[in-house]
Amino acid sequence: MSVEIRVPSEEERRAAIRVAETAFADTIEDADVEREERMMPLERVLVAFDDGRPVGLAAAYRFELSIPGGPVPCAGVTWVAVLPTHRRRGILRQLMARQLNDVHESGEPIAALWASEAAIYGRFGYGISAPTLRIESDSSRFSLREDPWPPPEASWTLLDGEEAFVRFPPIYERVRSQRAGLLGRDEGWWREYRLADPERWRHGASRKSYALLQLDGEDAAYAVYRVKSEWERDLPVGEVRVTEAFATTPAAERELWRYLSGVDLTVKVSYFSADPAASIFLMVRDPRGLRPIVHDGLWLRLVDVEAALAARTYRPGDPVVLEVRDDLCPWNAGRFRVGEGAERTDAEPDLILDVADLASVYLGAYDFVRLARARRVDVRTASAAERASDLVRTPLPPWCPEIF
Ligand SMILES: CC(C)(COP(=O)(O)OP(=O)(O)OC[C@H]1O[C@@H](n2cnc3c(N)ncnc32)[C@H](O)[C@@H]1OP(=O)(O)O)[C@@H](O)C(=O)NCCC(=O)NCCS
Repeated sequence: MSVEIRVPSEEERRAAIRVAETAFADTIEDADVEREERMMPLERVLVAFDDGRPVGLAAAYRFELSIPGGPVPCAGVTWVAVLPTHRRRGILRQLMARQLNDVHESGEPIAALWASEAAIYGRFGYGISAPTLRIESDSSRFSLREDPWPPPEASWTLLDGEEAFVRFPPIYERVRSQRAGLLGRDEGWWREYRLADPERWRHGASRKSYALLQLDGEDAAYAVYRVKSEWERDLPVGEVRVTEAFATTPAAERELWRYLSGVDLTVKVSYFSADPAASIFLMVRDPRGLRPIVHDGLWLRLVDVEAALAARTYRPGDPVVLEVRDDLCPWNAGRFRVGEGAERTDAEPDLILDVADLASVYLGAYDFVRLARARRVDVRTASAAERASDLVRTPLPPWCPEIF
């Protein structure tokens, strides 16, 4: 079988989206196709053709990802699918190899994705880079510990989509400026994805609610959520399904959870991609009642290791030499002195590791000591893992709540 991988024409792209529909056992409507046509540049789509028929697909949004020290361009890999008739014949491998080459040529040092199944992408050099928390909080157990400081005056307002478009982005930007892992959003992204509310995305729940919190008269947090109404033997057992929730201060985070846990006729608050550093655990009387599960979250691929390492900032400390192995992107292989900045070097390495594992420390989710404990790094110099960890540590772990 010889499969051709190339950028499709507009008509071919329309047909190729059906590959994803089949592979994900989903229903993709015309409105979804049109949204993708507006949001995904055609040259960022790759289709695998067998005898002229589309059998595989992969695409990449153009993102800006927050890393320690500021934002960098990042390819947001999505729409990855191969038809069941053509699975396990190496088509994904071909799509990944071509896509990484294209991303490299376009000058984006990083690619990112959410994996449908966590066993797929490690072999292509992706590593877990921003784990999230899946929370399924039992509202009946939700009770806040006493607040030792006088709480600010809180007021909530339910906005419509247009109002949310004006009031939510500044809140999001305040959080984003402090946190690695978050994606830049332009007007299209807010309107087409984050605030959009097509019937198909509701999965039997209500329309989206756009709730704005003000503390002492200042915009301080927001939540986008749906309510799934449910009754059991005449008792309400509904669920608050959070799409996203951002708080700019600890007091706002406390009030946010108090609000979500108090929606009438519901017994549960579920949030698939909550902040792994959520302070709410220390704010409640019964943290187990939040029912947290760690999820692998965002995966990163350092497509240009030298540029990626040079783009982030490091804490003060003695530089270390990393030797990076990368079978799929051979241009990355080599040694890098990392400390004040990053540059190629011929010096002997302190640490040797695979590019996928380097991705796991890149945003600060893990450090080299933890990699060494997992036997993912070859430590060549005494205390190199500790020294290198001191360089990459961040005050808060990264967080990407947004599945794309
Ligand atoms: C996941 C999917 C794209 C794989 O495509 P494919 O063409 O069958 O993959 P390949 O044949 O190129 O496989 C490459 C390697 O990945 C492995 N692999 C592929 N899918 C895998 C899976 N779901 N779990 C674990 N390993 C997987 C293969 O075994 C192969 O391993 P090897 O390198 O050791 O030989 C395809 O099965 C699919 O469309 N699944 C449903 C939709 C989906 O989950 N898409 C991913 C969205 S993030």
